[in-house]
Amino acid sequence: MMTTTTITRSLNFQVAVAAMAIFMALVSNLAYAADPGPLQDFCVAINDSAPAAVFVNGKFCKNPEVAEPEDFFLSGLLTPRNTSNPLGATVTVVNVDKIPGLNTQGISLVRVDYAPDGGLNPPHVHPRASEIFIVLEGTLYVGFVTSNPDFRLFSKILRPGDAFVFPVGLIHFQMNVGKSSAVAIAALTSQNPGVVTIANELFGSNPKIYPSVLSRAFQLDKEVIDYLQTRTWYNHLM
Ligand SMILES: *[C@@H]1O[C@H](CO)[C@@H](O)[C@H](O)[C@H]1NC(C)=O
Repeated sequence: MMTTTTITRSLNFQVAVAAMAIFMALVSNLAYAADPGPLQDFCVAINDSAPAAVFVNGKFCKNPEVAEPEDFFLSGLLTPRNTSNPLGATVTVVNVDKIPGLNTQGISLVRVDYAPDGGLNPPHVHPRASEIFIVLEGTLYVGFVTSNPDFRLFSKILRPGDAFVFPVGLIHFQMNVGKSSAVAIAALTSQNPGVVTIANELFGSNPKIYPSVLSRAFQLDKEVIDYLQTRTWYNHLM
C-alpha cells in the first residue's frame, strides 16, 4: 500500500519530470517530435492555442474539458476505396491528422485496398513505426528486406486472417497476386509513422537528383534515369 509520503514523492517526481519535459521542449524551440509517453489521459490535437487552457506535449492539446467522443472517432473504414490509379492500390491513412485524439498515443492505422491482378503498395519505409498487417480479403505477396549488409528478403503469400510484421525502418511492399480485390488493415507504432516511398523519393524528387548519382547507384544508363525522372510518381496515400 502506498503511504501519503510515497504518493507525494511520486507526484513530486512526476511534476519534476513534466516540468523538465516542458522546459526542454521550449528550449529546443518545439523541434521535439518523438512519440512521448502521455503525461495526462489524452491530448486531443488542435492546430492553434485559441481555446483557453493549453498543454504542450508534442502538439497543442485541446482543453480536456471540451474534448468530445468525436475527437477519438472516425467512421467509414469499411468503405472500399477506388484503386483505379497507376499503382492499383490506395492507402487510407488514419493518423493524428484524421483522429486528433491519437495525439501522444503512439499508434495509428491504415487501410489498404488493392486492385485485382497486381495492385501494388510499392516498396516503402516507415521511419517512425513498426507495423503489424492483417489481410481481410484477397491474396497478397508481401515482404521486407533486412538492412545492409545482409539484404535478406522475408516474404510470404498472405490470405484472409493472415498477419505479418514489417520491422521499423525496413523496406517493405505488398502486391495483390489474386484475381479479386484485396483489403488489409495495418497498425503502426506511431501517431505519425511517416512514409518514405522509395521510387517516388529517388526518381520524383523536387528538384531532381543529378542523374549521374542515380545512374551509378542503380547501374542504369543515364537515358533510363532521364526517362524515369520525367515520369509522374503517383502518390497513393489518402
Ligand atoms: C475511380 O477513379 C478513376 C480515376 O480517377 C475515375 O475515372 C473513376 O470514375 C473512379 N471510380 C469510381 C467508382 O469512383
